[in-house]
Amino acid sequence: MPSLNHNIKRTHSFENLYVEGKIPEDLKGTLYRVGPGLVERFGQSKHPFMADGAITAVRINESAQGACKLVESEAFLEEERMGKTLYDPDAPLLRRLYNGVTRSIKNTGNTQVLHWQGELYALMEQGKPVRFSESDLATLGTDNLGIIEGSFSAHPHRVEQLKTTFNFGINGNMIEVFALPDNGNIKILTRFKAPWIALIHDFMVTKKHVLFFIDPAKVIIWRAMLGLKDFTKYFQWDQTEGTHIIVIPLNDPESRTQITVDPFRVWHFANAYEQGDEIIIDAFRHKNIDVLTKPTQLDNDIPKPELYRFTVNPKKKTFTDETLSDVIAEFPIVNPNFIGKQHRYIWMQHYQDKNDNEGIALHDTITGHSKRWPAPEGHLCSEAIFVPKPNNKEENGWLLQLIQDSKKEKSYLAVFDAVHFEDGPVAKLWFDQPIPATFHGIFVPEGPYRT
Ligand SMILES: [Fe+2]
Repeated sequence: MPSLNHNIKRTHSFENLYVEGKIPEDLKGTLYRVGPGLVERFGQSKHPFMADGAITAVRINESAQGACKLVESEAFLEEERMGKTLYDPDAPLLRRLYNGVTRSIKNTGNTQVLHWQGELYALMEQGKPVRFSESDLATLGTDNLGIIEGSFSAHPHRVEQLKTTFNFGINGNMIEVFALPDNGNIKILTRFKAPWIALIHDFMVTKKHVLFFIDPAKVIIWRAMLGLKDFTKYFQWDQTEGTHIIVIPLNDPESRTQITVDPFRVWHFANAYEQGDEIIIDAFRHKNIDVLTKPTQLDNDIPKPELYRFTVNPKKKTFTDETLSDVIAEFPIVNPNFIGKQHRYIWMQHYQDKNDNEGIALHDTITGHSKRWPAPEGHLCSEAIFVPKPNNKEENGWLLQLIQDSKKEKSYLAVFDAVHFEDGPVAKLWFDQPIPATFHGIFVPEGPYRT
């Protein structure tokens, strides 16, 4: 993952990017990614999860234009006016107490982008969406989409067959599940009480179910309310508790099934789908939340995430798991047209190991084989985005990966043919600066595939 230890150096609207190689003729649309844009502000260094967000976009249509802007939410602008931190652990004690009592937070918008009904939003899991402009990435303001009273998480999933995007939020001790249809109003599908105030990052949706894995990463409320310096200490892994597998049928969302299993954590799911009465879920399994302290490095003392297949039968209340791959990786993706239905391929960001530099890996769930493209030495990678070609073949598409060349001190968007990605990028679209790490992103296609 690109270096986190620097701020975005220059913000700008769309401007031409230098193109090395040839942009595919059928790749047309805009990539949006977000991540921590200011890891140092007012002379204070920030945990990347707490840092103000930067949006990076690459518009592709035979040529390429790139833009970078900070997420300038109302709270961000208030801090700019006051010239000091008001909303995170670096804020003065009285302000932190005030924030805790009034539940005031700043939405940094540093985690993911949502595209819904023609609008773009920067998301952070504790806040409400921050709308921004398609034309120049300017922040347009916080938007509760009409009904969000608590938070709106940063891992929405769109199920193509249902023409609906799903997301969840936390409101007090309740988890709310939102359905955002391509046409029509957002609605709350269901609300349910979590077993404890939990750190839930991602969830999963199939054609028929919503699934949560609620693990024993408990939020220590008094620490969070006081806004203590070390943000990672707001959470405690309680090994005496299990992970709660919650299965919610879309056609009867009040009838939940819960299965409790030995504790483990999932930060990111690849996909899930039904197979008879069973639900198959592929995801990276973490032993606990230790990675929180070093989100972009995997030191030897931190347990490595492993790609797992979980099988849940809500009727029989059974749960099994198996390892799919020993590739040390995270940020799994599938072809977005396969979200909620049976997939074969999982692409992921693999980390440096004793054999290879970091890069992209692919796991074939049928053959069990994997292949990879290790980036050149000193090239720092990020999550890949899969852009389907206009046919139904799962593996046919383009892979886009924003990479920082630490020697040149510039970033480029690498474009790979997904079928032959191990041969390296067919095009590199160069920014004139190093873009700080981005966590997640989306591709919004032009034309008939645009939702
Ligand atoms: Fe994430």
